[in-house]
Amino acid sequence: MTERSCLAIVLAAGEGTRMRSSRPKVLHEVAGLSMLGHVLKAATRSGASRLVVVIGPSQPDTAKEVRRLAPEAGIVEQRERLGTAHAMLAARAAIERGVDDILILFGDTPLVRPQSLQHLRQALAEGAAVALLSFRAADPAGYGRLLIGDDGLRGVREDKDATPQEKGITLCNAGLMALAGDKALAILDRIGNSNSKREFYLTDAVAVARDMGLKAVAIGADEDDVRGINTKTQLAEAEAIMQKRLRAAALDAGVTLVAPETVFLSADTTFGKDVTVEPNVVFGPGVSIEDGATIRAFTHLEGAHVGKGARVGPYARLRPGADLGADVHIGNFVEIKAATIEAGAKANHLAYIGDARVGEGSNIGAGTITCNYDGVAKHRTEIGRNVFVGSNSALVAPVKIGDGSYIGSGSVITRDVPEDSLALERNQQTVKPGWAKRLRDLKTLTHKKP
Ligand code: UD1
Ligand code: MG
Repeated sequence: MTERSCLAIVLAAGEGTRMRSSRPKVLHEVAGLSMLGHVLKAATRSGASRLVVVIGPSQPDTAKEVRRLAPEAGIVEQRERLGTAHAMLAARAAIERGVDDILILFGDTPLVRPQSLQHLRQALAEGAAVALLSFRAADPAGYGRLLIGDDGLRGVREDKDATPQEKGITLCNAGLMALAGDKALAILDRIGNSNSKREFYLTDAVAVARDMGLKAVAIGADEDDVRGINTKTQLAEAEAIMQKRLRAAALDAGVTLVAPETVFLSADTTFGKDVTVEPNVVFGPGVSIEDGATIRAFTHLEGAHVGKGARVGPYARLRPGADLGADVHIGNFVEIKAATIEAGAKANHLAYIGDARVGEGSNIGAGTITCNYDGVAKHRTEIGRNVFVGSNSALVAPVKIGDGSYIGSGSVITRDVPEDSLALERNQQTVKPGWAKRLRDLKTLTHKKP
């Protein structure tokens, strides 16, 4: 089948109205990736070499997301929302270029897996002109119902147009479809809009194909794969299904998840071998964890890289650009942002390291802060190798701390520190012997109980 060429058309016009959102529906995220992103990924994985996304008028954010995730994809605009078959014709030029298989996906069906799409393509390879995915709906309301006769699939009846008897049918159209490339335009051009919504229904491709003497088939799919998301409740349901899948994939790949149901992953999270993740950890987008690392409980990571054997948490926060080398230790209530922490360095308690480099083997004491922001711009802190930063130090950027140097606790460092030196910025300690005792004695005298 691989030698057959494939064009995937993703229908993604529409607003976020039922999501009660000003964001277009398809840009809402599941596991840290837009629904549209999931669909584009599934299309590519099912062998589509060309992608076209149909968007509505004035949806610059949707176009931007397509360009970000699939720069090679074509973007076409459907000016009026006149139905799914009408939306397909916005991609007419792409279809006219000629292709064996056309896959049609909906931008709001993020759980679809490549194998379902491959089944559709297989049906085309076996001679069907139209193939659609079907499923048994627990509650079929809203879905198109499959009309099956002795001779197989005869048509699809949209919910709004169904007779009471047809409404009882539970075998439903999932929406995802495949059309033979050489027949697609002939079929699409014959679809009319004489139905209750006055829309051009893509589902009419079945009946049209049969009238033309072509074959149309329905292929069973898992309901979870083909859920269309319209509301925030459905979005949350899709998130739960996706999280289950991602956890199962991580476990299969050998990651130790102590309490899988409490770990939240992103679609692009990657793990090496022998990684352990303790309970209640959140992986935002863009996180990679290397072999032997341990992510301890209640840690939040996004846009971060954790090197071999590193230990992070409990209660740590790695923000975008955090890059930890091998065997780094990041402990509780430490936040790292846009900073490289080189091999063997440690920041074990209560610190903020932002816009910085911490050299190999350095130790960052509790309460250390890189003061990277002056209210207007961000500045860098460069910490060399084997540096010891004493507790509660403020490193006011831009500033450089040379290799092997030592910062005395409680210092506010505003000037560069040369190699192997001690920098101390603190008043001389005053000690008054006996002072405390004298104070106590005085107070006990004046406040003596009757
Ligand atoms: C569609 C199917 C229905 C199926 C259901 C599964 C048709 C006519 N009906 O109905 O049989 O059971 O999906 O969820 O196809 N879109 C456009 N332009 C348009 C109209 C729609 O781009 O003019 C896009 C939407 O953004 C969406 C997709 O096409 O991604 C499906 O449209 P939607 O209105 O959700 O169709 P349903 O009524 O759900
Ligand atoms: Mg829908």
